[in-house]
Amino acid sequence: MDAISVIRTKRDRGELSDEQIDWVIDAYTRGEVADEQMSALAMAILLNGMNRSEIARWTAAMIASGERMDFSSLSRPTADKHSTGGVGDKITLPLAPLVAACGAAVPQLSGRGLGHTGGTLDKLESIPGWRALLSNEEMLSVLDGTGAVICAAGDGLAPADKKLYALRDVTGTVEAIPLIASSIMSKKIAEGTGSLVLDVKVGTGAFMKTLDDARELARTMVGLGTDSGVRTVALLTDMSTPLGLTAGNALEVRESVEVLAGGGPADVVELTLALAREMLDAAGLKDADPAKALADGSAMDVWRRMIAAQGGDPDAELPVARERHVVNAPASGVLTRLDAYGIGVAAWRLGAGRARKEDPVQAGAGVELHARPGDRVTEGQPLLTLHTDTPDRFDYALQAVEGSYDVAPEGTEFTATPVVLERIA
Ligand code: URA
Repeated sequence: MDAISVIRTKRDRGELSDEQIDWVIDAYTRGEVADEQMSALAMAILLNGMNRSEIARWTAAMIASGERMDFSSLSRPTADKHSTGGVGDKITLPLAPLVAACGAAVPQLSGRGLGHTGGTLDKLESIPGWRALLSNEEMLSVLDGTGAVICAAGDGLAPADKKLYALRDVTGTVEAIPLIASSIMSKKIAEGTGSLVLDVKVGTGAFMKTLDDARELARTMVGLGTDSGVRTVALLTDMSTPLGLTAGNALEVRESVEVLAGGGPADVVELTLALAREMLDAAGLKDADPAKALADGSAMDVWRRMIAAQGGDPDAELPVARERHVVNAPASGVLTRLDAYGIGVAAWRLGAGRARKEDPVQAGAGVELHARPGDRVTEGQPLLTLHTDTPDRFDYALQAVEGSYDVAPEGTEFTATPVVLERIA
């Protein structure tokens, strides 16, 4: 077998055989297939697609490139959630302890920020002392002891995806649905969860901009999970507006703690509860009541134990950025649009995200929203507060914010987009 014949097959719109897929993934992981060859193949896949059996085999080959985790020693059923990434998407933070408080075990392997979208690990690292990197034994011990763990995937899990993902990031091949589906599902299946709920984001702030693309991605992932024996459900959820009132690491941790304390923005609470119900159903815990677990403090108890078990101090003051800049409403009326992509890029430029993979993030940086679409605003009232430690970034962030919101005259009709758009099972 050789890389050139595999590339030519896909370049000429052919179907890759099982042997070709197994060989190319294994040879790429071992370094026998070069980055330039794999990037040509990834581009051919992006342009010409893969059919269902090719995607299934590609996913299986990525799983086989590393280890598989085993949670069969746990007494509780396992349930995991994966979001395809958005702006202000802090849902994992309240959701994992909430679902654990209702009786499931939640092994939440999470990632770092990617472009304008935030990453769960970057958010949690703003809590003093908290550690994202755990050995497999530590992960199992936190999960067994508290019911939930949020940590980085170990190097042994789907190493082919780690290498391929980094390559796609710099070759314009992230957006291929077969590659996104196999990337996400190889990690989730190798992780060994019994059930999985996918939060597939749709809108300007998401990788999938249209409902049709989001549906195709969701159906592909649900098919891969189900065929591998993982009970898998997807919700398509809106990402045209940021979730909640914050985008940025410590800012989002603070908002998540508000949700765990029984408060927080209505859309964050709604999505957290919708995903919790799906996870609990999929895990066979149909009688659990997540709204009660938020209200009675049991989800907060699990949060505190989970953070402490990973070295964090749940009572520590969270970092605050040194500088702020307020953007005021340009007119009085109704805020009809607050664009997730513009806000995400602003938070990223303020220092909440990275320009290069190895860059540190600022814990306190980000954007705070003082109004959401549908709210009445008065000319000159604060609309957004930008937070950063490095004020020379304000101009650059303001360019991203410009054109990201509309204020329509008083009395303009406004119809809110639902948080959950569709369910695919
Ligand atoms: N998240 C992943 O893990 N992989 C992708 O390809 C895209 C988002």
